[in-house]
Amino acid sequence: MNIHRSSELDGIQDILDEIAAAMASRTDRGKAAGYIPELACVDTGQFAIAVAGVDGQVFCGGDVGTPFSIQSVSKVFTLTLALGKLGDTIWSRVGREPSGNAFNSIMQLEHEKGRPRNPFINAGAITVADLILAGHAPREAIGEIIRFVRFLADDETIAIDEKVARSELDHGDRNASLAHFMRSFGRLDNPVDHVLGVYFHHCALAMTCRQLAVSGLYLAAGGMNPMTGTRVISAERARRINALMLTCGHYDGSGEFAYRVGLPGKSGVGGAILAVAPGKAAIAVWSPGLDPVGNSKLGAEALEMLAQRTGWSVF
Ligand code: DON
Repeated sequence: MNIHRSSELDGIQDILDEIAAAMASRTDRGKAAGYIPELACVDTGQFAIAVAGVDGQVFCGGDVGTPFSIQSVSKVFTLTLALGKLGDTIWSRVGREPSGNAFNSIMQLEHEKGRPRNPFINAGAITVADLILAGHAPREAIGEIIRFVRFLADDETIAIDEKVARSELDHGDRNASLAHFMRSFGRLDNPVDHVLGVYFHHCALAMTCRQLAVSGLYLAAGGMNPMTGTRVISAERARRINALMLTCGHYDGSGEFAYRVGLPGKSGVGGAILAVAPGKAAIAVWSPGLDPVGNSKLGAEALEMLAQRTGWSVF
């Protein structure tokens, strides 16, 4: 398609190089997720950043060739897929309010009769996995999610890291508890092991920063993928997903992230964050060390620097 170069991205490579150099020298880098053994051993010395502009240009800095586990960032893509399949009916099963609790907390589920606060906490994403499954075999639902993400990224090489999926399954007692608890309220339609199989596999999708930034570009470009010229969702739906990312995308750290960065964003315990500058660019950052809430420590610092240098905050 005919793409015009955006002046928004002038000088962006210099900014990314500056950020990557600043992050390389940081000594306090947070801790890798300890509760998923396959993630616990990832080297926290790594950092990468990619900016995909709505004009189709992509700029990268740091360890851009290294794939990582996107973990909860995948919840943005499964939410998008579920909305595409079932429309706004999904909101009878999952809310749109920040939880103010840890991403794997069970507390609110009891008071709120098994309806999770939002699609980005674990209980909410497990519910979305149940909706995507819709009585089919887990393999089919997982295949559908992979095909969707490959379509978003315009990249057929994206795959699931089976070792990470297995590691999550072997240490998934908390998620199994959440799923059984919701099912006890009649909130899951499919068997718990099927739902968790889908959930763990989409969390284990592996991508590079460039692939992740391009995958999220539809959220910055009014629902279109400007690389391929295809419409993914309506502009209205993209705006609404961005609103949920801003309010719920960093769990009980969402307010802090909005305050410091001022962009819709979704984090994962693999150390990735996908951020959206509406009308401008999608940004992926990755550094495996987490802060105490479970968000990438250097990822948030890098996005804070980027927002300051570019003035891309939505506020
Ligand atoms: O279910 C889990 O705990 C992980 N697969 C995903 C959690 C996650 O990424 C939340 N992130 N901060």
